[in-house]
Amino acid sequence: MGTILVTDISELVTNDPSAAAAGPAPASAPDGYERLGIITDAAMLIDGDIVRWVGPADEAPAGATTISAAGGAVIPGFVDSHNHLVFAGDRSAEFAARMAGQKYSAGGIATTVAATRAASDAELEDNLTTLMRQAEHSGTTTFEIKTGYGLTLADEIRQLEIINRHTDESTLIAAHVVPPEHKDNPERYVDLVVDEIIPAAAGKAKWIDVFCEEGAFTEDQTARILNAGVAAGMRPRLHANQLTAGGALQLAAAHGCASADHATFASDADLAALAEAGTVATLLPGVEFSTRQPYPDARRFHAAGVTVAIASDCNPGSCFTSSIPFCIALAVRDMHFTVEQAIWSATAGGAAALERSDIGRLSPGARADFSILTAPSYRHLAYRPGVNLIREVHRAGRPIAVNPS
Ligand code: NIG
Ligand code: FE
Repeated sequence: MGTILVTDISELVTNDPSAAAAGPAPASAPDGYERLGIITDAAMLIDGDIVRWVGPADEAPAGATTISAAGGAVIPGFVDSHNHLVFAGDRSAEFAARMAGQKYSAGGIATTVAATRAASDAELEDNLTTLMRQAEHSGTTTFEIKTGYGLTLADEIRQLEIINRHTDESTLIAAHVVPPEHKDNPERYVDLVVDEIIPAAAGKAKWIDVFCEEGAFTEDQTARILNAGVAAGMRPRLHANQLTAGGALQLAAAHGCASADHATFASDADLAALAEAGTVATLLPGVEFSTRQPYPDARRFHAAGVTVAIASDCNPGSCFTSSIPFCIALAVRDMHFTVEQAIWSATAGGAAALERSDIGRLSPGARADFSILTAPSYRHLAYRPGVNLIREVHRAGRPIAVNPS
């Protein structure tokens, strides 16, 4: 592969303040502006799958094939660090009932488990690739994908094998809920997860995750499962404090989880523990939108010094959107992120939640994952909700999605 120069970029979001040598931030810059490392009137040189150079367009190296951003902004590809994309079946009636007043509970997961167990590998993989393609057209270039709708040894491993054909960021969440056949004895299911499923998933899953919640798994069960996953070579992450204000966030911090996700109910002590442990809080605005739960206030997380990511949590129950631009708009409007914090959290924040330094930024050495926008500023992603402003998406230097502009 030769070199490619992306030119005519109105604003390049690098997420690397040292790359933006263009001068100090505007006097009235919102919180999070400097971290975006913005270069205006910029160009970006790509060599194969890697970003080689970024800077002002008038200093761009000559000799490369050019792609014009046509005066649009360029941002890093979205790193969607929380997804449940391997499943079958439809739960739109459950959503409609919720909008008519019913409450979300972990119980609905069993519906998807039954449909997923009954589906063929080909059906599951077709559904997965359709969902991934939709998300790629909205600017997502990295996907974390979880199991959790199989809940038997064979079905969880089957999900992992499908996931591993499409991403390196695979997560075992066999402890999603206790499946119906173990309802009378949940501890027996925890034994199955620890003694059989985790050992079989070793080397196949990068991450171990648990839904630590009323109606799912207790804190003691969660600790046991995380420890077993870590002993099998997986890194821990956790579904924490989604429906109730339990001890799951502090448990995530104590276990050195890369990320604690949801955090819908978080006390000051929880936030202090996350900040102290360096555990990323992954907020999932689409879940609050789709379950009518209260939105957590991101200002508290930022004030406490917590690193914050935004992800979609695309799944058939609590949130069936894969659109990160939609999540950014919600995060800004309803969770009180500044636009700048939201853009950072959906890119560099997601990378931090996956312990990755090669993605989530556009500066020399990074993987060339980026979107060209049909808009002069990244701010339009929150300012124009529901309008697809993603014109062209590239992963590792190659185009993966092009939308009409
Ligand atoms: O992240 N919380 C647990 N798991 C998913 C919901 C799964 C479902 O309802 O099917 C979530 O919200
Ligand atoms: Fe989830």
